[in-house]
Amino acid sequence: MEHTLDQAVAYAKGIHQKGECEKAIHIYRRVLERNPEHVEALTYLGVAYWQTNKLEKAKNFLEKAVQVAPRSQSALANLASVSSALGNHEKALQCYDRLVHLRPKFVIAHYNRGMVLKRLNRLVEAKKCFLYAITLTENSCEAGFGTNAETSKLRGELLDELFRVLHALGARARITDLFRQYSKEMFPIVDPEFDNRYLQGLDATFTAPAPLRRRNRFHFLIKQLENVLGLSGLIAECGCFRGLSSYLLCHRLLQHDSSFTGAGYQIFDSFAGLSQPSESDIFFLDETDTVTRPDSNQVAVGKYAAKLEDVKHSLYQFPEIEYFPGWIPTAFPKSKKKRYRLVHVDVDLYQPTKDCFEYFWPRLVPGGVIVCDDYNWPGAERAVKEFCQSVGTSYDVSPYGQACFQTLRAV
Ligand SMILES: C[S@@+](CC[C@H](N)C(=O)[O-])C[C@H]1O[C@@H](n2cnc3c(N)ncnc32)[C@H](O)[C@@H]1O
Repeated sequence: MEHTLDQAVAYAKGIHQKGECEKAIHIYRRVLERNPEHVEALTYLGVAYWQTNKLEKAKNFLEKAVQVAPRSQSALANLASVSSALGNHEKALQCYDRLVHLRPKFVIAHYNRGMVLKRLNRLVEAKKCFLYAITLTENSCEAGFGTNAETSKLRGELLDELFRVLHALGARARITDLFRQYSKEMFPIVDPEFDNRYLQGLDATFTAPAPLRRRNRFHFLIKQLENVLGLSGLIAECGCFRGLSSYLLCHRLLQHDSSFTGAGYQIFDSFAGLSQPSESDIFFLDETDTVTRPDSNQVAVGKYAAKLEDVKHSLYQFPEIEYFPGWIPTAFPKSKKKRYRLVHVDVDLYQPTKDCFEYFWPRLVPGGVIVCDDYNWPGAERAVKEFCQSVGTSYDVSPYGQACFQTLRAV
């Protein structure tokens, strides 16, 4: 009989993997009627309930699976995830402890264990966990992990978590050391002078160096500034959050002109975070008609709110910066006289991004540049495409997801 039950479970797993959860659930249950301790049926039934959002049921079947087979890695790993999703982080931690005991080089188990420790605010232990998992990825075959690209992605994610924890622990010196250690691997262009400034900017703006690769976007932005240093005109940033990009831009201007104290630099921000997303920010059809949706947490109204006073404090060396607190486009001055050489648009959403383009494009000097940080956000991508088409200009996309377009240079 057991052989027939195993065959039934194998068949159910096949349809389960094709997404037919309800049908699979029916078969797993039938198997369990015949053998209530069939570990695979218990485990996959738990997984199927989890996938159909029935977390309590999922937990019950996975607990039973672990009871029957305390060394089942699959049952333990899934019970850990479901417990975590139910907010029972202590229980999840127990499962991960057992899992790493059974399989000490299981990178994902160490990664998830670190995430649970982080949620429990046991940051020193979480740090150790991420560090250990990173060392395991150095020998991906031994760690039983997939392709080089997958390993590199995983290493990047682990490093990001490690840096978040180090930031929360206030471990500045360790951040600097590790940042330098991993810069060759994570940054296509190593630039020690820029990186020193970047680390100072992170400190000044109380920002975590995570995601680590975000540094590449800032590096690219500074290169765009360098291209317009020979032009005259104002520089504006729309969307400053805590001021990190403005810190880097202003310090580069100071390096170029030691008397620079902020004159000619403008900051536009609500200082109340993101505005209301529109339909374009939530759904977007790409060329293959695939709907993409940014993480709903990312488009939350009010996200990235920072206080004007804190930004001024971080940029204290530049007291002549002009601040325009308020919602875009209302906060834009009506005057048509001002001219700009560089505008950094980093407001994430469709409508304010488009409003920025409409306001600044006719105000650019010849050769002036608009850099939009958010081409990897559906609404901003749409704003770039629509706007550039409407004014008949082309745009480039950086390897890090920023879009740039510029007016023709004078000859
Ligand atoms: C991703 S953050 C900018 C990050 C920043 N450039 C940095 O270096 O960290 C987005 C910013 O856009 C601002 N913002 C979003 N929508 C806005 C709107 N409609 N008007 C004004 N500011 C807005 C938010 O307050 C937030 O500071």
